[in-house]
Amino acid sequence: MPATVLVKSQSPVSIQRIKRSADWLLRSQLLSHEELTVVLTDNTGIKEINERWFKRPWATNVISFPAQEPGIIGDIVISVERAREEAQEGLTTVQNRTLELLIHGFVHLLGYDHELGPHEEKRMAKKEFELKRNLFRRNLMADLCINVDHVATIRQARGGVEPDPVVAAGMVELAGADGIVVHLREDRRHIQDRDVRLLRQIVQTRLTLEMAATEEMLGIAEDIKPDIVTLVPEKRQELTTEGGLDVLGLEKSITDAVKRLHDAGIPVSIFIDPERDQIEAARRTGAECIEIHTGRYADAESEEAQEKEFDTIVEMAGFAADIGLRVHAGHGLNYQNTGRLAAVSEIVEFSIGHSVISRSVFVGIERAVKDMLALVKG
Ligand code: PXP
Repeated sequence: MPATVLVKSQSPVSIQRIKRSADWLLRSQLLSHEELTVVLTDNTGIKEINERWFKRPWATNVISFPAQEPGIIGDIVISVERAREEAQEGLTTVQNRTLELLIHGFVHLLGYDHELGPHEEKRMAKKEFELKRNLFRRNLMADLCINVDHVATIRQARGGVEPDPVVAAGMVELAGADGIVVHLREDRRHIQDRDVRLLRQIVQTRLTLEMAATEEMLGIAEDIKPDIVTLVPEKRQELTTEGGLDVLGLEKSITDAVKRLHDAGIPVSIFIDPERDQIEAARRTGAECIEIHTGRYADAESEEAQEKEFDTIVEMAGFAADIGLRVHAGHGLNYQNTGRLAAVSEIVEFSIGHSVISRSVFVGIERAVKDMLALVKG
């Protein structure tokens, strides 16, 4: 559920930015399915609330109200007037101070409470710092996760030990990528079981395991515990994943797979074509996330066709975010066609492999990742 921002008094801050930040906070904690309401008011408004609910007759800066109902995380009331006063004292902008207060209120809704003593105060400050750093540094731009399968493809061409996708993953992280992706295929044509086990140990960002929803793969995921699983369709004859998963046709088995992964504490994304009924079905399975298959956009043969596919992705990403799904995108993305998609604010993560590994042959992996990061972070 996207966050709602209610403006109760004239406000000098960008409401759009507050809303995007609130949406990002929910997504960052995998809470996109929860409702969050942010109320922007002035000192008179917040004083009234503070007095009425807490018998504190003064204008504070932020108040959080955790909800008692499932599906609603709660409300955060911020005095933008107070934020402006504090911004002047702290030499920051009213916009940034309001965002800091939003984070503070949000961390309270997550259950942290600095008033419970020095230990809890420290724990809360750490959480706030982490969210603040990510929110400000990333400037709400999408994450870039690099798929290192093709390093393994080269290794498997000779059946030897080099190049090692595990080493590649370390270098990709050093270059600044936000995550590592591997697809463990049933035929083990590139990534091997050993790679996934080692990656689990060395990846410091996050490890996404792409896999078919088979008994064998579910067992491996339960054992290795990647940070997230992306369920993909798999055909032995295909060169690469050719289309999205037909969640609609396989709803029962996908729902069972999602449940098994959730029971193991693993969030789930489902790789699907940008189609409304597939997105709705993905939501019904209980998955937190979808990855939009961008192949039709990437492979479009005319500008007109690409334009049409782009519009579809924008519309479907918006629809998915509106029904509470985190939206990723990937497949066929390269240095020419990614920049445009990176501007679609609902897409919070890109999964890119072939083009980056191909470029790295000529310019080195660090440069190839950094060039793509520049496009994704805009
Ligand atoms: N996302 C998924 C689910 C995939 O299966 C693939 C291909 O392995 C990618 C993203 C990356 O595609 P590409 O290698 O074309 O960038």
